[in-house]
Amino acid sequence: MSVGVPNRLYAAITGIGGYIPANTRSNSDLEKICDTSDEWIVKRTGIKERRILEEDLATSDMAVRAIEDLAAKYNKNLHDIDALLVATSTPDMPMPATANIIADKLGLDNVWAFDMNAACSGFLYALDLGASLIETRRYKNVLVVGADNISTYVDIHDRSTNILFGDGAGVVWLEPSTEGGIMDAYLRSNGSGRSFLNIEGGGSLYPMDAEDAMADKRFLKQDGKTVFKHAVQSMSDACFQVMDRNGLTINDINWLVPHQANQRIIDAVGRALDIPEGRALSNIEYLGNTIAATIPLCIWQNLKQIKTGDLVMLTAFGAGFSWGASLFKWMI
Ligand code: UT7
Repeated sequence: MSVGVPNRLYAAITGIGGYIPANTRSNSDLEKICDTSDEWIVKRTGIKERRILEEDLATSDMAVRAIEDLAAKYNKNLHDIDALLVATSTPDMPMPATANIIADKLGLDNVWAFDMNAACSGFLYALDLGASLIETRRYKNVLVVGADNISTYVDIHDRSTNILFGDGAGVVWLEPSTEGGIMDAYLRSNGSGRSFLNIEGGGSLYPMDAEDAMADKRFLKQDGKTVFKHAVQSMSDACFQVMDRNGLTINDINWLVPHQANQRIIDAVGRALDIPEGRALSNIEYLGNTIAATIPLCIWQNLKQIKTGDLVMLTAFGAGFSWGASLFKWMI
């Protein structure tokens, strides 16, 4: 089957890069800190270890390394970048945007750069915005980063969250193409879900001070069961929306790249979509949930399988609640 509209200008992914910190936090490390076990964590989440960024580094440092990885592998000149979009919930600081810090560290002094926060759906949101910029024909080279240093917001003693999250950064380079690229995106949010997954402290409602830190507001909190149910339902629905409005069935999709929050969520979405075995990609086992970085990192680590012309569907769910799905033709 052929997907695409003649004469349409697409934003195609023409490069991908990633960075994962060297330090690992294994299940046996967590067994020493709280009442949990490797067996429980693997069975309930599929995760064996996560990567933890060094304390003196921040989100921008991982993003810079991911971008450098992309530039080296795909022979890109960073001075060609027109726009740099950074999806993150863990900016280096409230101001300026982490995108500005990344640009400065890369020696780029006149790039349009800003952050967007849609939590675990952030990469999908930023990818669609980046594609839209290309489609205006005013931008020719757009970088879309998903990066999070979420370990700084995880209470190491809280077994309901410390088992899940790790740090990382992924990035894609978008360029115009008349052959294919980002075909569609369906993105939604519902702020009434904010009580089930959040980091309350450090914003304008609860500015960070010693008292708040004592009250634990600086840590990520979630109602895991509620988030789990909404994640499966919303990601499946979003995928059906994208397939329906493009006249596709699951058999047309070569690869599904779901947000990597829990292997059981990935499997449940796969079952809901009835995707053939092996077509839902996963790299959660050794990285955990890296928030906005999961999707680009999952593609980056599975590149050998993805062939030119393959149709790839992405789907994510996260705090907000925010969720969505997008579809692209792999053009590399
Ligand atoms: O990007 C979006 C971010 N978040 C998510 O997607 C999170 C989605 N939720 C989840 O992944 C799962 O809900 C969790 C992994 C957080 C929890 O798994 P669960 O299967 O929902 O477990 P549960 O909370 O229902 O707990 C089941 C049992 C309880 O014991 P009892 O009451 O049955 O005796 C818990 O106390 O497991 C116990 N438990 C644990 N045991 C060992 C809960 N956490 C742990 C733990 N180690 N870490």
